[in-house]
Amino acid sequence: MRHAQVLPASDHESIRLAAEIIRGGGLVAFPTETVYGLGADALNPDAVAKIFEAKQRPSFDPLIVHIAMRASLDRLVETISLDDHRLMDAFWPGPLTVVLPKRAQVPDLVTAGLPTIAIRMPAHPVAQMLIREAGVPIAAPSANPFGYVSPTCAQHVLDGLGDRVDLILDGGPCPIGVESTIVSMGGAWPELLRPGSITLAEIQEVIGSIMQASAGLAVIAPGQLPRHYATRTPVTILAAQGARPILHGHERAGLLAMLTPGHVDERFCAIEVLSASGDLREAGRNLFAALRRLDALNLDRLFSEPCDEQGLGLAVMDRLRRCAVSID
Ligand code: TXA
Ligand code: MG
Repeated sequence: MRHAQVLPASDHESIRLAAEIIRGGGLVAFPTETVYGLGADALNPDAVAKIFEAKQRPSFDPLIVHIAMRASLDRLVETISLDDHRLMDAFWPGPLTVVLPKRAQVPDLVTAGLPTIAIRMPAHPVAQMLIREAGVPIAAPSANPFGYVSPTCAQHVLDGLGDRVDLILDGGPCPIGVESTIVSMGGAWPELLRPGSITLAEIQEVIGSIMQASAGLAVIAPGQLPRHYATRTPVTILAAQGARPILHGHERAGLLAMLTPGHVDERFCAIEVLSASGDLREAGRNLFAALRRLDALNLDRLFSEPCDEQGLGLAVMDRLRRCAVSID
């Protein structure tokens, strides 16, 4: 079995090698400010096919294309409206993905045959340097096996895809920890497809009203499927912070707490606290690593406290719901 090379992203030689691999049609996992991405040359269909194979991702799930400068849009998108420009001015580079009408030359595999393409300009210096050095737009989903929790450090990538990527650029933990906010600008109205750290209110401030994708709408992609970003251990979301769940028989359970619990419930084998002070940004940063640590304990069940669905809390609850099989 092949094992990925892990190189420090701080070394420019690593970036040069990673760019060479991308240009040669290979796969490189790299840090962004949200989560680690599994990157390939977005304009090379054979390279993009390797992403789907490595992740075991169904081909009807479109990818996000990463660029480092606005000029790269010319090759990828058909038209850019005033509101599109406003969003990019306000949030790029950063954790916002914009879905726009695509150009015919973008391989269909990238967009799963959709007439639109999702584009993001990451702010992370390593992602920026890699894209510039490669000289091509980089298609990159989160660097995890399909359906599992997204990776927020190099070790997570190694754990899940270590034998399927050519190189992992280790840039330390991701500062945001939750995937980018996705806004569709390709339809009749702007629509929030996935909440993230750029909040609904922040987007509304720039372009006015925006529709929120409702669970009842046709599923566009598995990223919007109810059970996604899931742990192997079943997760139940508690009704409130500090709520006492009913445990059956000798069930071994773990707790994901939003802040330091007022009293320790001794029935839990393990407790992960997302932020001692209840800071949502810190909670978002710790979310996936905490879920992975709890999952690795092979307990019977996990319980998660809910958080307020305000600001970044909307994204945190979105990821928890997709991970949960039931809500208490
Ligand atoms: O923060 C992020 O966005 C990370 C980093 C690596 O950039 N990437 C990421 O990619 O989360 P991924 O593949 O795990 O999620 C991409 C999601 C798809 O599941 C799909 O829901 C949506 O983006 N998407 C991509 N292209 C689309 C399109 N043309 N129309 C609607 N949704 C699209
Ligand atoms: Mg993903």
